[in-house]
Amino acid sequence: MSTDILRLAAEEAYAEELAALAETDEYPRPPRWRLSPQAVASYLLGGETRNGVAITPKYLGQRRLMEIAIATLATDRALLLLGVPGTAKSWVSEHLSAAISGDSRLAVQGTAGTAEEAIRYGWNYAKLLAEGPSPAALVESPVLRGMRDGLLVRVEELTRIPSDVQDALITILSEKTLPVPELNTEIRATRGFNIIATANDRDRGVNELSSALKRRFNTVVLPLPDSLDEETEIVRSRVESLGKALKLPSEPPAVEEIRRLVTVFRELRAGVTVDGKTKLKSPSGVLSTGEAISVLNQGLALAGHFGDGVLRARDLASGLVGAVVKDPVQDRIVWLEYLDTVVKERDGWKDLYRACRELA
Ligand SMILES: Nc1ncnc2c1ncn2[C@@H]1O[C@H](COP(=O)(O)OP(=O)(O)O)[C@@H](O)[C@H]1O
Ligand SMILES: [Mg+2]
Repeated sequence: MSTDILRLAAEEAYAEELAALAETDEYPRPPRWRLSPQAVASYLLGGETRNGVAITPKYLGQRRLMEIAIATLATDRALLLLGVPGTAKSWVSEHLSAAISGDSRLAVQGTAGTAEEAIRYGWNYAKLLAEGPSPAALVESPVLRGMRDGLLVRVEELTRIPSDVQDALITILSEKTLPVPELNTEIRATRGFNIIATANDRDRGVNELSSALKRRFNTVVLPLPDSLDEETEIVRSRVESLGKALKLPSEPPAVEEIRRLVTVFRELRAGVTVDGKTKLKSPSGVLSTGEAISVLNQGLALAGHFGDGVLRARDLASGLVGAVVKDPVQDRIVWLEYLDTVVKERDGWKDLYRACRELA
């Protein structure tokens, strides 16, 4: 596989793991699934195949959530992954489709501008004008291709899609068919087709799902990590593999440095210090695990290119301030108060205090 590709699809990046799992998989597979539900769970949660190939954990968190997500996809209901930004919704959805269908690229990115063509089909107008409506003039959407080929289709940020366009999904999910009146025909879904949608908790109320559409989905809520240790480990493992992919010229960050960053995120998010003693104001941003990963990556790039290759407080500070201070007035007040009441007083945190203060 060419390493010049900036980002490989999950089924490419983890092709060996997927092949090893398929080879040793002895459980029954639902129609057109590449792996059994058990093997899909092993792929997501990590472990070792019977012939000794190590499977890296993709999702770190409750096993049961992944089991429910996988089992849902084997029924006639679609899967909705719900959560605040940065809780691995897209990441899990990509790996689920890679493991189940061997193709994670059938995806619709939901935005306010997503049109019905992205969910149903469009037309190649040159062909349409020259030849009239014909199958050759039809431009298939990812959903249509998934229906035809019996594959999973991902719909990202479902609740950002305008309601009338969302409605196009209702017939698809309830009737498992997509009428094409222009050709006097319909595309009927092949077994194996299903949809994994993601939606952001914070978008609630933007384009609320209609109750008709909601009924077609089983919802799995992806939570923020329970404990400091768990979140530190998620950030560590993701930063390690991203660092390799980006070929950053820096050493992997010390776990203590990651822990410090995650502590700041968790304290500000929760509005209280980890020892439970000091109440804090929370800034307006989400401060998600995903953002902590980005702050560290930025720090590593600074350390690698402009520092001595070792991640230090000053490499973290700018990304950290950027993540916390989203609103230049309110968040800044919250941040400065946190710096002075918590960071400044904490043993061994002087360097972080100074680096952040310099920027403020
Ligand atoms: N519980 C978790 N297990 C593994 N990775 C996680 C977890 N939570 C967050 N991440 C990481 O955070 C980053 C952002 O995740 P993403 O799927 O883009 O978030 P979302 O779609 O929920 O906004 C990804 O790199 C993902 O691997
Ligand atoms: Mg996402």
